Amino acid sequence: MNQYQTTQTTDIPFNHNLIDGIIYEPLTTKQQLNNLKLSFEARTSDIFLSSYMKSGTLWNMQMVRLIMLKGEDPTDDLNLFEFCPVLEEIPNNDFIKAYPSPRCIHSHIPHNILIQSINKQQPCKYIYTARNPGDVMVSLYYHIISREPYNSSVSWDRFVQLFMAGKVPYGSWYDHVLAWWAQKDRSNILFLKYEDRLNDPHATIRQIADFIAIDLTEKEVQMVAKKSSFSAMKNNRLANGSWMKRTPNSTTQHLRKGIIGDWKNHLTTEQLVSFKKQYNEKTQGTGIDFGIENYY
Ligand code: A3P
Repeated sequence: MNQYQTTQTTDIPFNHNLIDGIIYEPLTTKQQLNNLKLSFEARTSDIFLSSYMKSGTLWNMQMVRLIMLKGEDPTDDLNLFEFCPVLEEIPNNDFIKAYPSPRCIHSHIPHNILIQSINKQQPCKYIYTARNPGDVMVSLYYHIISREPYNSSVSWDRFVQLFMAGKVPYGSWYDHVLAWWAQKDRSNILFLKYEDRLNDPHATIRQIADFIAIDLTEKEVQMVAKKSSFSAMKNNRLANGSWMKRTPNSTTQHLRKGIIGDWKNHLTTEQLVSFKKQYNEKTQGTGIDFGIENYY
């Protein structure tokens, strides 16, 4: 038992909760998920921002917030998690009920569980962001060793094994991303990639704005792009994740590098071979493409 009352699973070297076979972050409890299933009332105007961890969640929130504000700064003093609460961490339904429509709600819960928990026949909008598994693996490694609730000093080599076995929060990257990918043509789902957002932020801003039916002028698109850039977000205390507790020894911040291909600097030759093999096997025939062979 520790202060987060987490599950003790001998082969998983970080605090977590194992709920119905899925590893969750230490702050998510079975009771919260049960409450969600029983009492969450979705609204047709809800905008769900969904992703596997470390895929640019905060970035997505910042873009959506700025699009709603047509590029202007918020007049409230809410950080991104207060603007767009994390579904699996909300204390109770009254908390989320108090948010005015359109609500922006974030979740990493895998597709089938999320839909069962919240859908209840309400056609909410979902914006899903996927990022290539190599960069997610690196980013998640730093996240787990630097965020206080995990209380972990897992080695990189062990972490690579765990990630590839899906023994990390929210399970296998492949299961998570491919389940949303299979639904991407539904009219209420917008499937985006981190890499496209980085290469052409203006196009992503336009896609999101069209999806949530907000007209933006070219100038407004430029303001959104500028205020959601890596450097602008890093210097913005409401957007840089500084409210999330890190360990005293942490050397990284939530906005760490924000680049594509950092996994090349981390994987050993042997790890790279197994990573490529798994990536090719799991994505073959799905049509999903992150262009990762350009980084081999
Ligand atoms: P790195 O650790 O690779 O730098 P999440 O918010 O889902 O936890 O994702 C965090 C990752 O998204 C971090 O990746 C972070 O740097 C990156 N990120 C956040 N905002 C970004 C931005 N404006 N541009 C590029 N990357 C961004």
